[in-house]
Amino acid sequence: MARNDSGSTSEPIRIGTLYSRSGVTSAVEVTQLQATMLAVEEINRAGGVSGREVELVCLDPQCQPRRYADLAEQLILEHRVRLIVGCYMSSTRKAVIPIVERYNALLFYATPYEGFEYSRNVIYTGAAPNQNTLPLAGFMLTQFGSRVSMIGSDYVCPYESNRVMSDLILERGGEKVDETYLSLDAPWESYLEAAKRIRQLAPDFIFSTVVGEGIPHLYRAFAYVGLDPYRVPIASHMTSEAEIAVMGSDLAEGHITSAAYFQSLDTRENLGAVARYQARFGDDQPTNMCWEAAYFQMHLLADAIRRVGSDDPTLLLRVLPGLEFDAPQGRVRIDEHNNHTYLRPLIGRVNAHGRFDIIGRSPERVKADPYVVSHITPEWIANAHPEPGRAGVDR
Ligand code: ACM
Repeated sequence: MARNDSGSTSEPIRIGTLYSRSGVTSAVEVTQLQATMLAVEEINRAGGVSGREVELVCLDPQCQPRRYADLAEQLILEHRVRLIVGCYMSSTRKAVIPIVERYNALLFYATPYEGFEYSRNVIYTGAAPNQNTLPLAGFMLTQFGSRVSMIGSDYVCPYESNRVMSDLILERGGEKVDETYLSLDAPWESYLEAAKRIRQLAPDFIFSTVVGEGIPHLYRAFAYVGLDPYRVPIASHMTSEAEIAVMGSDLAEGHITSAAYFQSLDTRENLGAVARYQARFGDDQPTNMCWEAAYFQMHLLADAIRRVGSDDPTLLLRVLPGLEFDAPQGRVRIDEHNNHTYLRPLIGRVNAHGRFDIIGRSPERVKADPYVVSHITPEWIANAHPEPGRAGVDR
C-alpha cells in the first residue's frame, strides 16, 4: 500500500456499485449509476477525500436478487470493498443485507421503499412510506375519492406498500375495490386485461406499485382502454422521469407521483446538478428521485470519510447520523436514530413535457418514520391541489 511521509495512505478509496445495466428496472438503475459517477467525478475534481481519489468498482447484477448477493460478497472478498452503493428493488436490498451484516460492510440504498426495516449496516436515502405513501393517500382521498384499485409488481415492496396504503384508506372510510399483482416480466396483454377489469370496477383512482418495464405497459394499457388521467389518475410513488422517458409524455400526462424530488425543482442546487449531469451524460438524460438520492448519498459518504479519515464502516457509523448535505431537493440529513434520511415530500402531476408540475410541497424536511407509527395526514396536504397554480405552494 502506498504511504506518504506522514504514514497515511494515498491509495484510492474503493466503493462498490450494484446497479443493473440490463433487466426489468435497469432504466432507473442506470440513472443511479450515472448519478454516482457524477458525484465521484465532482469529489475527485475537488481533490478527492483527504487527498485520496474515490474509485468505483462497478458490477452489474442484471436485476437478479441472487446476483446482488453474490456480487456484494465478491466486492467485499475479492475487491476488498467495505462500502457499497446500490440496489433498487427491495428484493435485491433484502438479498444484500445478510452479506453486509456478516462482513460489517455498509450499503447505501437510494430508492423509495416500503419501510418496516432497519439494519445497522444500511443507510436509507430514499423515501420511507411516511414521506410518500402517507401524503399521497391524504391527497388522493380528498381530491379524487375513496374507491381505490391497487396494482403492483409481484414482490415484497408492492405487497408491503399496498398493505400500508390499505390501512390508510380503510381508516379514512375508503374502499379497496381491487388488488392485483403481475409478475415482473408480465407482457403488455396482462396489463391490458387488468386495465379492462379496473375500468369496469370504476375506482376513483389507481394506486400503482408497478416497477420497471411494467410501468410503460400499465400506462399504455390505461390509455388504450380509454381511462382519463384527469378524472381517474394513476397515483404512484415509483413512477419517475426515468420511466416517463421510456413511455413518452403522451401516456404519462395527467398521472400523479409522490416523491422527494422531481427534475422540475427550481433550487439552485438542482439546476446546477442537472446541468452538470446532462453535460456529462447527454442533454436528453432525465433525472429522478432515485438519481437524486444516489447523487447526494455519495457526497454525504465522502464527507463522512473525510471526517473520520477512513472507509471503516464502524468509524463512519459514528459520524453519518446527523450529517447534512445541500442536495438538489434542499438540505437533507441522516437521522440520528434510524439510518434513514430527512427528506422534503412533494406531489407532482406529469405535464405535456413529461416533467412534473409540483402540486403539493412539504414546507419542511420530514423525519423518516419507517414503521409508519403516525397515520396522520400532513398539514401541507390541505394546500395541495391537482391543478398547478391553484395550490398554496410556490413554484
Ligand atoms: C422498491 O422495490 N423499493 C422500489
